[in-house]
Amino acid sequence: MSRPYVIDQMISAKSIAARIESLARDIHAAFDDTDKLVVVGLLRGSFVFIADLVRELDLPVEVDFIEASSYGDGMESSREVRILKDLRGTIEGRDVLIVEDIVDTGHTLSHVTDYLRSRHPARLKTIALLDKPARREVDFRADWTGFEIPDAFVVGYGIDFAQRNRNLPYIGQVRFTDDA
Ligand code: IMP
Repeated sequence: MSRPYVIDQMISAKSIAARIESLARDIHAAFDDTDKLVVVGLLRGSFVFIADLVRELDLPVEVDFIEASSYGDGMESSREVRILKDLRGTIEGRDVLIVEDIVDTGHTLSHVTDYLRSRHPARLKTIALLDKPARREVDFRADWTGFEIPDAFVVGYGIDFAQRNRNLPYIGQVRFTDDA
């Protein structure tokens, strides 16, 4: 039942690496006095991004993960986000950076940010590798964004299409080949 598709490169591995170096400098500047930064990756799409990002951070860092699931009810555009896997560690009074792969409608990162903010971290910031502003349904902007992209379905660098293509080293756009 899966449709045939090809993947057109949109953002090269080299461009991603360069952008991450620059983002890490901004994060460093924001948290340079931290005693420990808890870097929270949203599973699963952020796993490659968080791995590269933390290796560019010359800060005391703890890594934790949270998994959220968002889905529509199929009848209306309202979205419900559930926490499937919570943090292992405590973040009260700590500096926190939430790392997401893509901000699309904005529901997921907005919900997870509110959820973690309710635990009273000292400072809480958000970073997303990709942002699709044209798709936004809630008023949310990450503190840092790697790249703004158009309304396209992308894969690679941790991001999947039906659990495939996460291992591509670059960001590519899915193009269906059975289109007229
Ligand atoms: P949001 O709640 O609509 O912002 O959705 C964010 C999540 O949707 C991301 O973490 C991705 O898992 C998924 N997502 C959004 N756009 C894409 C895409 O182009 N390719 C793969 N997953 C996507």
